[in-house]
Amino acid sequence: MTVPPAPAVPRLGVNIDHIATLRNARGGKHPDPVHGALLAAEAGADGITAHLREDRRHIRDEDVRRLMAESPLPLNFEMAVTEEMLAIATALRPHAACLVPEKRQEVTTEGGLEVADATVDMAGFVARLGEAGIRVSLFIDPDPVQVEAAKRVGAPVIELHTGAYCDAPDAQRPAQLARIVEAAALAAELGIECHAGHGLDYATAGPVAAIPNMAELNIGHFLIGAAVFTGIIPAIQEMKRVIAAARAG
Ligand code: PXP
Repeated sequence: MTVPPAPAVPRLGVNIDHIATLRNARGGKHPDPVHGALLAAEAGADGITAHLREDRRHIRDEDVRRLMAESPLPLNFEMAVTEEMLAIATALRPHAACLVPEKRQEVTTEGGLEVADATVDMAGFVARLGEAGIRVSLFIDPDPVQVEAAKRVGAPVIELHTGAYCDAPDAQRPAQLARIVEAAALAAELGIECHAGHGLDYATAGPVAAIPNMAELNIGHFLIGAAVFTGIIPAIQEMKRVIAAARAG
């Protein structure tokens, strides 16, 4: 099977969840994640990612509805593998949906989705989203067992969890990067489009962007944090520059 052609430079999806985290800390309307999406578009971002968690701790239903109506960028809707989220996704029909594991107590998405030993009908979720015209990705660890399982359940796209690579002490980072490189190569062999995300910053994004078939990086926490100091437009522009420079070699 042939690999879907990766863009010359990986796309940057900006995850705006933590603009909503800040807003919710005060309970008012500011800062508005949809305003963040409009500024991300101005900065040259290629997409917006938002995770409607089951507990609505940051992004809320109304934010997703407004993102669909007001943002010019394609929305990558991160969702738990539940009937509630499936109903929301198929009603809203975002450009893409990324299936993620979700634990109520976690601070962030701690690991990848268990696809190989799934306790839910993963193939059914992938198929129902696909039938609604939504591009589906599975957020998995860079583990060949999970990449192969993603293929079996019919996922056209995977997003590799880069958390272990980003959190690794310097001496162990090359080994973690190698896992990502190998998982991406297996995805290419299986004809699956490959994305990556979680914990990436200006230092860690480059080596991942340099992987030849890497089509998209989804980055949130670091960019929203950098935006506090530099503004969101320069933060996104700098990340775009880092990604393009890495791909150019
Ligand atoms: N991709 C997925 C699937 C995620 O769950 C997250 C975190 O919400 C990200 C990317 C972005 O991670 P970070 O906020 O650490 O950049």
